[in-house]
Amino acid sequence: MSDLHIVLLAAGKGTRMKSATPKVLHNVAGLPMIDRVLASASQLNPASTTVVTGHLAEALEQRLAGRGLRFVRQEPQLGTGHALLQTDPLFQEATGTIVLLSGDVPLLTSHSLQQLVLIHRERNAAATVMTARIDRPFGYGRIIRSRGAIARIVEERDASPAERAIQEVNAGIYALEIEPLFKAMRSIAAQNAQGEYYLPDLVGVYRRQKRRVETFELDNPNEIRGINSRTELSDVTRIVRQSKNEELMAAGVTIIDPATTYIDDSVTVGADTVIHPQVFLEGRTTIGAACEIHASVRIVDSVLADRVVVQNFCVITESRLETGARVGPFAHLRPGAVLSERAKVGNFVELKKTTMGRNAKANHLTYLGDATVGNDVNVGAGTITCNYDGVQKHPTIIEDGAFIGSDTQLIAPVRVGQGAYVAAGSSITDDVPPGSLGIARGRQTNVEGWVARNKSRHAKGEG
Ligand code: UD1
Ligand code: CA
Repeated sequence: MSDLHIVLLAAGKGTRMKSATPKVLHNVAGLPMIDRVLASASQLNPASTTVVTGHLAEALEQRLAGRGLRFVRQEPQLGTGHALLQTDPLFQEATGTIVLLSGDVPLLTSHSLQQLVLIHRERNAAATVMTARIDRPFGYGRIIRSRGAIARIVEERDASPAERAIQEVNAGIYALEIEPLFKAMRSIAAQNAQGEYYLPDLVGVYRRQKRRVETFELDNPNEIRGINSRTELSDVTRIVRQSKNEELMAAGVTIIDPATTYIDDSVTVGADTVIHPQVFLEGRTTIGAACEIHASVRIVDSVLADRVVVQNFCVITESRLETGARVGPFAHLRPGAVLSERAKVGNFVELKKTTMGRNAKANHLTYLGDATVGNDVNVGAGTITCNYDGVQKHPTIIEDGAFIGSDTQLIAPVRVGQGAYVAAGSSITDDVPPGSLGIARGRQTNVEGWVARNKSRHAKGEG
């Protein structure tokens, strides 16, 4: 909308968070809360989006750079009214509507914002306040009505006991006509020369000026939940998580214990996949259909195709698992691990920048780094790629159908040819040609009768 502008307040100290990170950059289910607000705001197609920064401004502006946002500094931070007033110079020439948002109210949907603007315009209001009714209104500004119409907003700390009992609260979200706005804000500022000044006081001023002030009450009060403390951060995170889990279950995913399942908004999961308790699916993770993710698994920025099984206690990061691959228990797939179809990685196996071919297996106690493992390869227990010489990483290539005996060290760079065998306990420093046996270990000698001779020496006290 060409005459619609977004102003987002994010300058506050966030004192109650007790954090060195700007409050609005704290994650709610994997996404900074301000990103959630910006995502909803952008759905309005605003002509401009301005973020008011102040406390830890540099860190915040840096994180939000390159998104076409305008920044205005508020220094010092004298309240939400003062914050809005800092944008005055940007709107000298402008007409239309400002939608005023708070960086710490992350659950607001774009649908609700659209409705706010619609009602604001239909009713020709100078200001429209978004409100909601909540059971425990503690901490929010209360909506004081007289003969049905909004008269003013009173903050928690200024409210009388009777006012505190009011359950209709200010969401801190407003639609505001630009034309009378800044003049009114300046008059509020003038009356509050020393202290903080509050944006909600605009309502009382407008009412005295006989301007039209409307309210728009949300059906779902959860949308207006603000985050001022770590407790509220966890409350809001739980709401997001629950709705994600419900959305997935509605789409055919079994979640055995939603209360202990942590799935970021950005994650997708296919139908008939079963997710056990204490599973974390994070970031840009995609899980296919009919997979089974057992308990206590963390998967980050990874892609799992269909029918993949992840046994208990695995950590999988930036990896790709093709159809029917199996992992774990207790496996660690680090960035760049690729399991082709039906490949299997078993307990206490770590992979880094390593591709396992189709049906390849590394079932026990193995480290494979910078390795390319072909199809149908069997990697025995305790195999280690020695890929790092202290300065550089070197590749290991194991061609199709090769067999690596247990307790082998592959000292990279090295190649084991197609179908070759490596004898157990070998330290392989040279390439093994296709179809050959590579064996590299000390020879065994048996000393016959040694035990009896040794015992009789002890008996004679020869030590
Ligand atoms: C505010 C409202 C309250 C409403 C609640 C809804 C005021 C005075 N009160 O209270 O009526 O119910 O939101 O969540 O507006 N900010 C600045 N500069 C400042 C102060 C704050 O930019 O000087 C920003 C904060 O970063 C935050 C937003 O404004 O994003 C709200 O400030 P906050 O201190 O959290 O206000 P609340 O006490 O929650
Ligand atoms: Ca707040």
